[in-house]
Amino acid sequence: MSNCRVCSATVRKFFDFGRHPLSSAFLTPGEADDDREFRFRLAIGVCASCTMVQLMEEVPRELSAHRGYPYHSSNSTVMRKHFQATAEGFLATELDGPDPFMTEIGCNDGVTLQTVRDAGVRHLAFEPTGVDGVRTHHAFFDAAAAREVRAANGPADVIYAANTICDIPDIGSVLAGVDELLADDGVFVFEDPYFAEIVDRTSFDQIYDEHFFFFTGRAVHFLAEHFGFELADVERLPVHGGQIRYTLARAGRRRPTPAVEELLAEEAARDLTGPTTLSRFTADVARIRTDLLDLLRSLTADGKRIVGYAATAKSSTVTNYCGIGPDLVPFICDTTPSKQGMLTPGAHIPVRPPEAFSADYPDYALLFAWNHAEEVMAKEQGFREAGGKWILYVPDVHIV
Ligand code: TYD
Ligand code: ZN
Repeated sequence: MSNCRVCSATVRKFFDFGRHPLSSAFLTPGEADDDREFRFRLAIGVCASCTMVQLMEEVPRELSAHRGYPYHSSNSTVMRKHFQATAEGFLATELDGPDPFMTEIGCNDGVTLQTVRDAGVRHLAFEPTGVDGVRTHHAFFDAAAAREVRAANGPADVIYAANTICDIPDIGSVLAGVDELLADDGVFVFEDPYFAEIVDRTSFDQIYDEHFFFFTGRAVHFLAEHFGFELADVERLPVHGGQIRYTLARAGRRRPTPAVEELLAEEAARDLTGPTTLSRFTADVARIRTDLLDLLRSLTADGKRIVGYAATAKSSTVTNYCGIGPDLVPFICDTTPSKQGMLTPGAHIPVRPPEAFSADYPDYALLFAWNHAEEVMAKEQGFREAGGKWILYVPDVHIV
């Protein structure tokens, strides 16, 4: 049992994936031999009171914090365009007053803030490890860091975060920081995977150590009010398998858009976090495991070669939950130099550079970066021309 990180009520577990390693804890071949790989219980539950969906167990921040594999959004053309458009949107709306100031919490590789910088607008990233080309406050975002930045720069018109807020179990410390730093009329905007999309696509691989919360409109609406804010707008985003961008303002400062009411009504109508929805989801997850293992085993028995494509954080949940090892997937190719030559966490599948894939195309490629499917398949037309086929497991196991 655990307590909700928003409202302290009881969190009811609805699925347990078993003991998993950290999704970013790649190992050297030497490290795989000793038996000391850190594991934690990867299980997910829903708050009986505020309905926030969250992990049952928290991984200490020192242990996770990406372990040196920062996310490079600009590797993906789609994501780079997404973040540029995001910045341009803010420049045209929230940042058009006198001497505006935008901050970002955990700024990926800085694409959004670089665009803001290039427009001559004051900006600052909260990022412990630092980022090229953007002004950085080298600290995690909390009340103390926010106070320090406000003292030196004044209030922020925009506080933005992409794929970051859902990673922070102590979400109260984030909202305390927002309260310190945000201008009276400013907005706190964050975008993260949407729980309804995870349910609808059975994309259970979004569930791993670094995604602590799985937001819904209803839970974020409660969260905002609980900390003195208001959910002013919501926007569906097509990236990363379906996200929502939430806009919070100080209570009473903005009139919520109709989209907020619509989203809340839609979630209520389908009882998004109710027992029927959740038990159907967990049955779907178990079915995907069975189907995927059956497929990989039968292809392997037929002498087919299968390679994994992209050693994503998501792939850690899939391989470890399904029990997919090098016997079924001999290696995973990945563009990240620091992952190449390593073994994936838990499953210990070797990671090799993309050339290992293109030099000798396998019969099948298991696409762990399914959220970039269009981009990947366009880039890898040679694979298909050579007769190769893609295996996908979202929204169900199928071959294309
Ligand atoms: P992504 O799905 O963005 O993230 P996550 O790790 O959070 O699940 O995938 C990023 C990883 O996928 C990173 O290790 C690089 C790898 N990747 C490739 O190797 N080739 C590709 O074409 C893409 C899109 C990703
Ligand atoms: Zn709660």
